[in-house]
Amino acid sequence: MSKLKKCLFPAAGYGTRFLPATKSIPKEMLPVLDKPLIHYGVEEAIDAGLNEINIILGRGKSAIEDYFDKNYELETELADKPKKLKLLDPINKLISRGTFTFRRQGAMLGLGDAIYKAKTMIGNESFGVILADDVCDSGRYESVMTQMVQIYKKYDCSVVAIMEVPIEKSDSYGIIEGTQIENDVYRVSKMIEKPKPADAPTNLAIIGRYILTSDIFFMLADTKPGAGGEIQITDALQKLAEQGKVIAYKFKGKRYDCGSVEGYVEAINGFYNK
Ligand code: G1P
Repeated sequence: MSKLKKCLFPAAGYGTRFLPATKSIPKEMLPVLDKPLIHYGVEEAIDAGLNEINIILGRGKSAIEDYFDKNYELETELADKPKKLKLLDPINKLISRGTFTFRRQGAMLGLGDAIYKAKTMIGNESFGVILADDVCDSGRYESVMTQMVQIYKKYDCSVVAIMEVPIEKSDSYGIIEGTQIENDVYRVSKMIEKPKPADAPTNLAIIGRYILTSDIFFMLADTKPGAGGEIQITDALQKLAEQGKVIAYKFKGKRYDCGSVEGYVEAINGFYNK
């Protein structure tokens, strides 16, 4: 089984649903309480043992690089205010537990393209992918990525996290069809990106958590633009699914869609009332 130490964060999109806020702030830096969205994802990756963090950036996203770096000026200013200095502990702990590598996507041709641009960073290893605007709270269970690592180790192939959604929302997600092989686990036979409800084979939707084997790069190399004119990771995964090499896992926990204003507000309330 291939090594699994890396986690990729595609963070290049414009975050148009949050304009004007995202005109000058990356959407991944919008806070849920006192931490930005991407903090939750990186913490989840590192907790799952994926401590080599690779982030694909777009232009105007350098605040993300700064967040995962030390801020000496701030720490010097707060040196004699230990209570305030302590507020930096959560991010400083993350920084000390992980390594951080950044790369620009350049032209933004879709999620599949952002992942393909990470080919040289990832090499010949399996890797996690976390979409930072999907924030997961697994409550009393292990984190969603930790749950997925266990599935990966058992089946030794690519894994996507799924949840049930109302069928009328199928056109917001990648939808899978497959054979149930154990409780909450499916061997995927078909994957469609954002089908209309009438064309959706099931209501099982992919959320922003993946573990991908490195053969995904071969599939991405000749994946043509699909839904929305973008290169879709779902279409590349479909080619692996045809070979029986994709598992879908219905994770335990709650996923907040922080890519939408409603989901973002729900996340803030959910975490505040925890
Ligand atoms: C992406 C994926 C989609 C997945 C979704 C989960 O879509 O392409 O398959 O269901 O993330 O959040 P996006 O929301 O970026 O349009």
